[in-house]
Amino acid sequence: MIQGQPRLSESVIGARGRDSHNPGRFHTQQTTGFSMDVKDKVIVVTGAGRGLGRGIAKMLASKGAKVACVDLNEADLAETVQVCKDAGGDGQAFIANVAKEDDVEKLFADVVSELGGLHGVVNNAGITRDGLLVKAKDGQITKMPLQQWQAVIDVNLTGVFLCAREAAAKMIELGVDEGVIVNISSLARQGSFGQSNYSAAKSGVAALAEVWAKELARYNIRTGAVAPGTINTDMIAAMKPEARDRLVSAVPLKRIGEPEHIAMSVLFIFENSYFTGRCIDTDGGLR
Ligand SMILES: NC(=O)c1ccc[n+]([C@@H]2O[C@H](COP(=O)([O-])OP(=O)(O)OC[C@H]3O[C@@H](n4cnc5c(N)ncnc54)[C@H](O)[C@@H]3O)[C@@H](O)[C@H]2O)c1
Repeated sequence: MIQGQPRLSESVIGARGRDSHNPGRFHTQQTTGFSMDVKDKVIVVTGAGRGLGRGIAKMLASKGAKVACVDLNEADLAETVQVCKDAGGDGQAFIANVAKEDDVEKLFADVVSELGGLHGVVNNAGITRDGLLVKAKDGQITKMPLQQWQAVIDVNLTGVFLCAREAAAKMIELGVDEGVIVNISSLARQGSFGQSNYSAAKSGVAALAEVWAKELARYNIRTGAVAPGTINTDMIAAMKPEARDRLVSAVPLKRIGEPEHIAMSVLFIFENSYFTGRCIDTDGGLR
């Protein structure tokens, strides 16, 4: 078990090393070659009940992955599982709160025992609780309550830490040839008005992708982040047309993105064996 020093399987130790034909050189590619095929790989997608998470689950399933769809909402998950099956792949529902350590530990143990392995996680579950740091009006100063700050940090930052930690521990234990951790960041990682909590978390998860790229490469685990701009999800669809138009006019491409655009960036990180630690901004050029 993973207590202190991990016990590595032979495949992890043997996957890298010196080239036997040319001992002065290290292998320039891993056992899997230049690209990773997600077919039959077990990939966890958090927040898969709707929106971007569903789009990512669908894309991975359409490439033949076995997708562990994670969310708090059971009914939404059932729909996503059907979407995965309709896309030609496989999906299975797992209820878990990514902000709770016990839930996350159980989740990854269940995924491995029920789906027979683990090759990656997409840390997509996220919430917003927008508000100003402080606001002065009519001589009154109001402050962002700690609870409001903490709620977003718990899900969007601690949740990503917990899922990545459990995923990495399990993948090392299982001796995966190639594992992948993707964090969904946001355009807001640059610092967004009214989003102290959200911007801090989204900047944090992009930085963590970089930290983990350095720490986990020795175990053949790659990482990456995707920072979406404004994407066509329920929240955007519910906006008044004028507000939506204002949003669109600020985007250089003059249109909002679709969940498939974000899913394509996620898939790129999985498939490209020389990608690790970087964040792909997928935002139509908006800054
Ligand atoms: N939609 C956008 O335009 C946009 C832009 C930038 C970044 N993002 C990021 O992309 C991700 C998905 O966004 P979305 O628009 O699809 O959101 P959404 O609200 O439509 O879906 C989020 C899903 O996460 C689930 N979830 C929330 N808290 C959870 C928890 N504690 N444990 C497990 N599941 C939980 C929800 O039930 C929901 O199904 C988020 O991380 C968000 O910050 C979205």
